[in-house]
Amino acid sequence: MDEWERWEHRVQTAAHPVVYRLLTAVAARGPVVRVPGVGVVVSDARTAREVLTDPGAFTKTGPGAAAQLWTPVLGARTLITLDGAAHATLRRRLAGLFAPGQVGAVCARALRAPLARATQRLAAGGTVDLVPVVREGAGAVIRELVGLPPDAVADVAGASAVLAGTRLWRTSLTGRQTARARAALAGLSEAAVAAYRSGDGSTVPGRLRGLGLTEAEARGAVGMFLLTGTETLVSFVPRLIALAHDVGRGPDRITDAVVEEALRVTSPTPVMLRSAARDGRLGGVRVRTGDRVVLAGLLCTRSAGPFDPEGTSRTALNRLWFGAGPHFCLGMPLAMAETAAVLRALRPFPHLTVTSRRPSRGVLIPSYAALTVRAAPAGP
Ligand code: HEM
Repeated sequence: MDEWERWEHRVQTAAHPVVYRLLTAVAARGPVVRVPGVGVVVSDARTAREVLTDPGAFTKTGPGAAAQLWTPVLGARTLITLDGAAHATLRRRLAGLFAPGQVGAVCARALRAPLARATQRLAAGGTVDLVPVVREGAGAVIRELVGLPPDAVADVAGASAVLAGTRLWRTSLTGRQTARARAALAGLSEAAVAAYRSGDGSTVPGRLRGLGLTEAEARGAVGMFLLTGTETLVSFVPRLIALAHDVGRGPDRITDAVVEEALRVTSPTPVMLRSAARDGRLGGVRVRTGDRVVLAGLLCTRSAGPFDPEGTSRTALNRLWFGAGPHFCLGMPLAMAETAAVLRALRPFPHLTVTSRRPSRGVLIPSYAALTVRAAPAGP
């Protein structure tokens, strides 16, 4: 194994010591395998895309899929807890928040302070843990996006903790987890609801009202963006920097192709869940109504080969790491803009060295708990 692979393996096994090994073993048995007590496991990109783009046959709202997990916390009217026409209408209304101009402005405002602090420290020869920098930045971006006050920081951290505490296999949260999640989101929801009720067009909840969202939908949107838009970046950006370091590239040599390739081999959302809506066959395996279908995204994308930014094997995957079909990641432009902003800030430090790192243990989205870097002086 190369250095980057060794570290990625450690990140995956620290997050999911049992599940990662189980999935890898299952994938070795075939692209689609029925695993008793787990569901029908898919580790082949083409089959995964087939499932994601056929929402009539594989829903997000049936037994064992994501909606069951999140409806008690976020309510039923969010993108991740809806399917079909209701999902499409809500998605159209929310899409305006992610227009390129809007996303760039939000990132510039929200990331300025955490990135300035980090780069000042690096310039002075100090070390910086990139994980809290990205966490603060990603939280601030979501706060800006949904128009929440700066004192919502604690709530953002609480909501992230809820996500981190969920397990891949769970089809529902425990009573305690639901209560914690609701409590973490309560403050945020209150602020969002107040802004929604005032109808103030300068706040996002107010704008969502103008776009035709109900109060419940505006509240759900705030929680959903927090859940989907923070831990994914806290996972990806430090892993991108670490991976580039391990293959001998400083931030100045992290091109768009390196970012795409790093997304492919890290695939931050390791699993996507669906529920079979009717009997049929998938990759030769019989599927019955109500079966849980576990799409092992990471295994699908990793099977295209080792990290190779010059290679073209990722093209056929068509960004499967952001999903496919009607639930394709709505926040992709924001994720790319935030990543680009961090890279822009780090580019003046081509000799960035990872001085220590620690993978997170027992979390839903594999990540580093700490990734400390220092700007080493240029070599002779
Ligand atoms: C590198 C970072 C990210 C990755 C790899 C990622 C990946 C994904 C994937 C795979 C899905 C599809 C899930 C499924 O079909 O079950 C998804 C959906 C979603 N993502 Fe992201 N995401 C990232 C960042 C973000 C950010 C920053 C936001 C901002 C709020 C966001 C918002 C969403 C939303 C709202 C959905 C649900 C869309 C729908 O159901 O229609 N994501 N993401």
